[in-house]
Amino acid sequence: MANIALTGDRPTGRLHIGHYAGSLKERVAIQNSGAVDELFIMIADTQALTDNAGNPQKVRDNIIEVILDYISAGIDLDKTTIFIQSEVRALPEITTYYMNLVTLPRLLRNPTVKAEIAYRGFDSDTKGVPVGFANYPISQAADITAFNANRIPVGDDQLPMIEQTREIVRAFNNQYNTDCLVMPDAVLPKNNVCKRLPGIDGSLKMSKSLGNAIYLADTSEEVKKKIFSMYTDPNHIRVEDPGKVEGNVVFTYLDAFSTDEHFKRFYPEFNNLDELKKAYEHGGIGDMKIKTFLYNVMEDILTPIRERRKEYEKKIELIFDYIKKGNEKANKVADETLGKIRKAMGIDYFTDDTFVKEQIEKYN
Ligand code: TRP
Repeated sequence: MANIALTGDRPTGRLHIGHYAGSLKERVAIQNSGAVDELFIMIADTQALTDNAGNPQKVRDNIIEVILDYISAGIDLDKTTIFIQSEVRALPEITTYYMNLVTLPRLLRNPTVKAEIAYRGFDSDTKGVPVGFANYPISQAADITAFNANRIPVGDDQLPMIEQTREIVRAFNNQYNTDCLVMPDAVLPKNNVCKRLPGIDGSLKMSKSLGNAIYLADTSEEVKKKIFSMYTDPNHIRVEDPGKVEGNVVFTYLDAFSTDEHFKRFYPEFNNLDELKKAYEHGGIGDMKIKTFLYNVMEDILTPIRERRKEYEKKIELIFDYIKKGNEKANKVADETLGKIRKAMGIDYFTDDTFVKEQIEKYN
């Protein structure tokens, strides 16, 4: 069986280092290692509209932003297919058929949807929740299955979506006695802290709306300002005081991004992060020191990304040509799957000539 990876992002804002650590880095690795036969990355504009119905302009404005972030971070348009969700008309049709296989309570039990409902301030009794929003996990199952994807590189907030997709694959294949849908698995980052990076303020999630994100496209000055304002250990007041590493965002980010090589270059007093952590816990390491180190680490990662972005900003037309090709390829694959789905369900009336014969015989 071919290995096909698919993932995507909602185009509602620029991508941040949480996206990078959680999934984008993994995608670039998958792309370059040849671990899969095919990598699809979808700009999930249809999904973005499920809670931005009143603001399509925001979605429109962020399509190219997100694509620029991808290619700046190392996605190669000659190796990876990037496409736009709303351009693939088979997806809403597939979604419609899957909707019959999922109950309402099952949808609303989805922990990610639940959290998002609370966070968007929809009525807690769910009466204010748009149908399209509650339905987006089903639409995501259509995204994944339409491309026969078996590997889904995501952060761990997306696990409930993959679980929902697996249930739909099982239900569909069972119901229609077929094996046409492929069972997907999530691909999570090996490094635990990368699965869900906290914001610079220490809150659980890095997000645009919380204003606690470091963006891939941030300038060096912006990154510096953000890192030096970061939440550390409120009880670590004097340099001599013992400091806490647990819950200290600077250390969480160092866990996610620093390597022994970074220590050699920027902090040679220590060989690795374990040594630095011990010294910090013991006392004698100031927050300025660890923030300066983190700043150097982040700049080492972000500078080449920023530079590539500047280059690609001059090539928007070329990028558009690639995306158009991506859309065509995506449509071809999704149409094929839709054909299989219709056939499995027996609603392929006009591509299956037994239908006409059967009906003629019935009335004769
Ligand atoms: N839900 C994902 C997000 O919010 C975006 C997404 C849409 C996606 N369809 C997908 C991710 C299919 C993986 C696979 O970021």
